[in-house]
Amino acid sequence: MATTTITITLFLFCFITTTMSFPPSPPIQCNTTICLLSNAYGIFNTRNPCPVPSVLYPTSEQDLLAAIAMATKSNLKIKLVSSFSHTIPKFSCPNPTSNALLISTSKYNTNIEINPSQRTVTADAGVGLRALIDRVEAAGMSLVAAPYWEGVSIGGLVSTGSHGSSWWGNGGAVHDHVVGMRLVVPAGRSEGYAKVVTVVAGDPLFDAARVSLGIIAAISKVTLSLEPRFKRSITFSFQNDSSFEDDFMDLAKKHEFADISWFPSQKKAIYRIDDRVPMSTPGEGVNDFIGFQSTATLTSTAVRASEKAAEKAKSIKGKCTLASMELSAKKFVGFGLKNNKIIFTGYPVVGYQGKMQTSGSCLYSSSLDLLSSCAWDPRIKGLIFYETTAIFSPQKFKDFIRDVKKLRDLNPDNFCGIDNYNGMLIRFVKRSTAYLGQPEDSVVVDFNYFRADDAMTPRLSEDVWEEVEQMAFFKHGARPHWAKNRKVAFLGVQEKYPYMSLFIAARKKIDPLGVFYSSWSEEILLGHVTDKDDGCALEGQCVCSEDRHCSPSNGYFCKPGLVYQEARVCRYSSTAIE
Ligand SMILES: Cc1cc2nc3c(=O)[nH]c(=O)nc-3n(C[C@H](O)[C@H](O)[C@H](O)COP(=O)(O)OP(=O)(O)OC[C@H]3O[C@@H](n4cnc5c(N)ncnc54)[C@H](O)[C@@H]3O)c2cc1C
Ligand SMILES: *[C@@H]1O[C@H](CO)[C@@H](O)[C@H](O)[C@H]1NC(C)=O
Ligand SMILES: *[C@@H]1O[C@H](CO)[C@@H](O)[C@H](O)[C@H]1NC(C)=O
Repeated sequence: MATTTITITLFLFCFITTTMSFPPSPPIQCNTTICLLSNAYGIFNTRNPCPVPSVLYPTSEQDLLAAIAMATKSNLKIKLVSSFSHTIPKFSCPNPTSNALLISTSKYNTNIEINPSQRTVTADAGVGLRALIDRVEAAGMSLVAAPYWEGVSIGGLVSTGSHGSSWWGNGGAVHDHVVGMRLVVPAGRSEGYAKVVTVVAGDPLFDAARVSLGIIAAISKVTLSLEPRFKRSITFSFQNDSSFEDDFMDLAKKHEFADISWFPSQKKAIYRIDDRVPMSTPGEGVNDFIGFQSTATLTSTAVRASEKAAEKAKSIKGKCTLASMELSAKKFVGFGLKNNKIIFTGYPVVGYQGKMQTSGSCLYSSSLDLLSSCAWDPRIKGLIFYETTAIFSPQKFKDFIRDVKKLRDLNPDNFCGIDNYNGMLIRFVKRSTAYLGQPEDSVVVDFNYFRADDAMTPRLSEDVWEEVEQMAFFKHGARPHWAKNRKVAFLGVQEKYPYMSLFIAARKKIDPLGVFYSSWSEEILLGHVTDKDDGCALEGQCVCSEDRHCSPSNGYFCKPGLVYQEARVCRYSSTAIE
């Protein structure tokens, strides 16, 4: 199919507001000769394309079973991907060198069955989070944990350990609310080459299958536990940032859905005071997080252009102006909280759980602007950024923040480049028995920062981000979120997840032939050091040890960290002739 046809069919005409906007394009795009898989940011395609020899779109469990059986019988390697493909590491990309099959769950998304007496919901793996939540709420129940972004499938989100924020009850990670799964696994000839296996808590496979990165089985259905429908009340409390690294434990203990947004360059910390309230509390508020709202194409393009101009002029101050303007604008609109579904009129904002936990209105795109989409849509030359997500034990989190503050205090402006991407988001997840989940109650730190259009272009203040990244993952032993991060974050990951060997043993048992194997997923899971090419540190493919790993021709050289001396980062120097 020609790209133009695809683009045209993607245009969604919304007659109510007479606007034209476009939802994300499907991650698999084919022409007459080849199909390519990308992620939602379009990054696989521009940096490192993922060609897929063949794709199947099952619509039922029988279809999925038949697909796995066919692939097993024909010795094909299998990978799965959802209709969203919102994961950054290339887990869904099949092996480039072998015969492979990609299974998309985009059409396996019809069944959502609620069991009121057990208070559970069972959904097909391809069901989107928003569809699931709406059905659950309509039945008078609530899903307690979910990521903040709703553009994900149930199968995809439990595969990568996706989470919201909570240290209460079963905690903020969705897989800790899973009570059962139906998997399709390869089998011998006598069993027809594939079979369905049911796993529930207590089964040996349960802890392997919940956060399984698409590398041990195909998830057919997921059963989640629910609670009676409830309401929440949210207030964002603006504080200076002098003590949040001491306050976070208290905050997480006191407020069920607490989080903290830290803006280091502005020395501000915003505490999210977020609790359940009685159903009788008035309010039908909505949390329509501003970063996930539909953005006019022109706005995204303009923001990107001004970022690039600041980069080109090496103008840190330009980024700081952007950062402080954005924070004031966001404060004014309550970060997208809406008291009455339409506008923000003041705190607290009270609403149903189903409208307060997760959002993503850019997926459906409707705004007063002519053309709008998610800000990172690869078709519009909008935002391109990295997402680093580091998961700490509480004590190490404290040490990490103290180190980052030291680095910040050397020159607060260096941090403007993350503050214009919402600063550092600090969230909470509880200890999990899932082998690749968090082995202890943990603190998750997320931050985004500018990524250049091409891999070889160095970035303003990149030494600072690299130092923060290395502080997190190497000095303070943070575990990487499986769905985010640059490759360096996964170095040594095997030693960080204490049940890794159990996971690998379970995988050998359930998939002895390695049907779900690919070199892409293996590279991340094993966290191995690979060859260091010229410029490899720029995109986080390596830690630099020589100048050529940075960009000497552009004045970026490999240097020690400023606070964490053992770090090796690419730093700009206008004078160095080395
Ligand atoms: C804007 C944005 C905001 C986000 N916010 C959060 C957040 O708040 N919290 C958080 O934790 N994460 C967050 N994420 C990350 C996101 O939750 C994960 O990337 C999630 O895994 C994406 O789900 P998906 O359906 O797109 O899965 P995909 O990217 O399609 O797949 C993810 C993995 O699951 C595997 N998989 C998919 N379906 C199946 C199946 N049926 N059987 C077996 N394996 C399967 C794939 O092979 C792959 O390994 C965010 C991502 C974005 C883009
Ligand atoms: C199909 O797409 C590939 C990759 O984008 C491209 O190289 C090739 O020329 C295209 N073929 C046709 C027939 O359009
Ligand atoms: C930060 O705020 C606290 C009160 O919340 C106050 O006691 C403290 O003096 C403030 N610190 C700075 C540096 O402004």
